[in-house]
Amino acid sequence: MNRVKAIPTHVAIIMDGNGRWAKQRGKERSEGHFAGVASVRAAVRAAVRNGVKWLTLYAFSTENWGRPIQEVEAIMELFCRTVVGEGDELARQGVRVKIMGEHTHFSPSVIEMIERIENTTVGGDKLTLVLAFNYSSRREIMLAAQQLAKRVAEGEMSAEEITEESISSALMTSEIPDPDFIIRTSGECRLSNFLLWQASYAEFYFPEVLWPDFDETEFDKALEVYAERDRRYGLVTEES
Ligand code: FPP
Repeated sequence: MNRVKAIPTHVAIIMDGNGRWAKQRGKERSEGHFAGVASVRAAVRAAVRNGVKWLTLYAFSTENWGRPIQEVEAIMELFCRTVVGEGDELARQGVRVKIMGEHTHFSPSVIEMIERIENTTVGGDKLTLVLAFNYSSRREIMLAAQQLAKRVAEGEMSAEEITEESISSALMTSEIPDPDFIIRTSGECRLSNFLLWQASYAEFYFPEVLWPDFDETEFDKALEVYAERDRRYGLVTEES
């Protein structure tokens, strides 16, 4: 019997290995991030082509502020330039962009850029591209806990109404389905504070390839790996 290839609804990627890619070529780390932008474009194209509906990219973690100031500035600059420069092309491809993360630390121009790209692409119905920027999962969970505790303290809800659903609704991902497939490039096998709550039943894939080398063929290869997985959600299936 021919089985229809399973396509994940939501793919989330930890784009790792830019620094090593640059070092291997005797270049500055920021050149690795620059090269990584081509892989962002490739991942978006491949996601649209394969019918993936949500693509989340971990672009800047809250912890990344601790990197050398030149590197932080280079990533900020690159992020803003790319996001603004690609707006029309993303809209043409039917891609809606959402920026996920705390807006603290951002200059007014970065905040304006975020509003601009979200507005330009609001009509995109093929793929939602979520860019996790100044994001950290533990802080996200902590903020959700504070929000719910406040509502209990103010008598808006009871403690018993703190359920998996109400916690999910208080997270930054409240309108985003949980990721089905999490990819981290460069052979590192950890989550680094990314979507800890949401990853409960995700499938994981850790290819050795560095992010700047993760092209459309690598994305397709990853989807082949996903299609072979038997997702059981703690239950038993025909195959198990
Ligand atoms: C991790 O590699 C990569 C980052 C912290 C930054 C990723 C940012 C971009 C690709 C730029 C723009 C993004 C978008 C979405 C427009 P690393 O520096 O930790 O690599 P290493 O582990 O080899 O040092």
